[in-house]
Amino acid sequence: MNKKKDKKKIYIKTWGCQMNEHDSSIIKNILYKEKKFTFVNQPEISDILILNTCSIREKAQEKLFHQLGRWKKFKKKNSNIIIAIGGCVATQEGENIYKRAKFINIIFGTQSLHKLPQLIYQAYINKNLIIDIKEKSLKKFDYSPLKQTKKKFTSFVTIMEGCNKYCSFCIVPYTRGKEISRNNKEIILEIKKLTEIGVKEIILLGQNVNSYHINNKFNKKKYNFSDLLYSISEIPEINRIRYITSHPMDFSDDIIESYKYIPQLTNFLHLPVQSGSNKILRLMKRGYTIEVYENIINKLKHIRPKISISSDFIIGFPGETQEDFEKTLNFVSKINFDTSYSFIYSKRPGTRASKLEDNTSIEEKKNRLYILQKKINQQSFQWRRRMLGTTQEVLVEGIAKNNIQELYGRTENNRIIHFEGNPKHIGTFIQLKVIDINYNSYLKGIIK
Ligand code: SAH
Ligand code: F3S
Repeated sequence: MNKKKDKKKIYIKTWGCQMNEHDSSIIKNILYKEKKFTFVNQPEISDILILNTCSIREKAQEKLFHQLGRWKKFKKKNSNIIIAIGGCVATQEGENIYKRAKFINIIFGTQSLHKLPQLIYQAYINKNLIIDIKEKSLKKFDYSPLKQTKKKFTSFVTIMEGCNKYCSFCIVPYTRGKEISRNNKEIILEIKKLTEIGVKEIILLGQNVNSYHINNKFNKKKYNFSDLLYSISEIPEINRIRYITSHPMDFSDDIIESYKYIPQLTNFLHLPVQSGSNKILRLMKRGYTIEVYENIINKLKHIRPKISISSDFIIGFPGETQEDFEKTLNFVSKINFDTSYSFIYSKRPGTRASKLEDNTSIEEKKNRLYILQKKINQQSFQWRRRMLGTTQEVLVEGIAKNNIQELYGRTENNRIIHFEGNPKHIGTFIQLKVIDINYNSYLKGIIK
């Protein structure tokens, strides 16, 4: 079974956030280690089809059945094909998916990834639905990217999962479950292993990274997010630390302080504010005001004058008036965000906001989104313009895809920059002078 031609071909389709992307890479690692599978990019030639779903904003159910409709055709031609559905929709909907699509074989939850090989073997023997969505542990991380041999220089590391915040619009607490933090020693071990394959930058991943904590036996916090940052900063090979996503409510002074002592923390922070109106923030149950948010940013800027901030915004939340919307626009100017993501509010089943009255038309919401995005883009352009002529420290990640004469990397504020250099620079930090800010939609630099 070990020859390539004897291996079962797997196609994985992933929707959604970085967490889901990362989960898919864990799935790949777990299955790769079995030595019985190989991965392909064409669903039509595969033996096993895996869909890792997301339900954060879209009409996830409809999208899922649409996708399954396409895969059903493959299964009609070859009834031995195994179809497995994972991710947030699987966790939330469970058996309901099977009721509408009786041809699927496996439904697995966001925490059951490590069981997938067993579930697949079972599915070959047992033609009934196999379902595993109850797992609550973080065992899947025992299968994190450890066995990688391919060189890479930047890597995600999950430090916690789930969320207890229950923002009124958000489905995550229902799909990813209660917050669980990974053991700090395991995290450090994983990062050290990653340094062996060249990793110099890590991106800590979690729904709420800054509420990371390990309790002692009296249930008191004994080790928190800033402690973890300090521990990571002691690993000499790690030169850059990023994290997504943090929450303003948990952005305590010890985390702000850590920017003074940990130069590896980048001058870039993604801290979602969602709205510039306190009334809307209250309805969203975000647990802070814009004044609290601004105060965090001011304290950070005091320590790191060059830090740039990005955010997420939700437009058209139930009850958002023109006045509330203008408050958001004003707040965007006031904080002077670097880049930001913005979305039209999407009603999620079972959330508290889904019960709120919503009188704003979709046309009006689209119009507000357009105005907001235009403003964000203008501001983002100004940030880029200010980079022109400056020297930026860049982690060189590889050869540019559209021009093999060039290399590419990322600046501290996460912008891709291309330059002519020697492949020996790959995996190193280099000082580049920015000479063009609109070069095939990237920055262009030259070696200083
Ligand atoms: N703390 C999380 C946030 C998860 S969702 C994280 O780790 O990223 C990412 C973003 O999606 C949120 O910040 C919010 O702006 C947006 N979002 C979440 N639920 C939404 C909804 N129901 N409608 C529109 N946007 C939503
Ligand atoms: Fe969602 Fe709010 Fe948690 S946005 S992930 S409920 S912090």
